Amino acid sequence: MEDAKYIERTFVALKPDAVKRGIVGEVIEHFETAGFKISGIKMVQATDQLLEKHYEEHVNKSFYEGLAEYMQEGPIIAMVLEGVHAAENVRKIVGDTSNREAHPSTIRGKFGHMSMDHADEEGTQYKNIIHASEPGEAEREIEIWFEEDELHDYQVVYGEEIK
Ligand code: PPS
Repeated sequence: MEDAKYIERTFVALKPDAVKRGIVGEVIEHFETAGFKISGIKMVQATDQLLEKHYEEHVNKSFYEGLAEYMQEGPIIAMVLEGVHAAENVRKIVGDTSNREAHPSTIRGKFGHMSMDHADEEGTQYKNIIHASEPGEAEREIEIWFEEDELHDYQVVYGEEIK
C-alpha cells in the first residue's frame, strides 16, 4: 500500500443477491470510476465462522440469524479497495445502510428499495446488496477475509489522485 497519510484500505463485500442479479461489474464500476484501486478481489462462500467474526457486534441481535442465512445464500465478492480516506469515501458511494434512506445516486439507493421496517413486518430478510467497512473497522475486516499475499500492490496508469 502507498505510504501516504490519508491513503488507506477498506473492505467491501458484494452480497449474494448482487452476484445472483448479475450486477457485480456495474457495482464495481462505481469504485473504479471514483479512482479507487482494487488491491484484492475474490469470490468466497461465507461460512458461519467468517460471518461471526465479521459481524461480531451484531451476533446477539434478533436479525443476525437471518443476516447470516442471507450472506450464505450464494457466494459473495470480497474486495479490498485502496484510496484517499477510503472507508469514509467508499461508504459515501455505497449509501445509507437502509435502502429506503439511501440517496438514489448511491449504490444502495440505485439498486434496491427494501426497508428494514418492511422486511421486519413481513418476516423476510432485509437485503441491501453490499457491505462496506465503517472507518476504524476496515483493517479488522480485511484480516478476516484476506491473507496478506492475496493483496496486490501495483501502479495505476491514470489520474493523479492515487499512485
Ligand atoms: S452499519 O452500516 O454497519 O453502520 O449499520 P449497522 O446498523 O451498524 O449494521 C447493521 C448490519 O446488519 C444488517 N442488517 C440489519 N440491520 C438492522 N436491522 C435489520 N433487520 C437488519 N438486517 C440486516 C445491516 O445491513 C448491516 O450490515 P451491512 O453488511 O453493513 O449492510
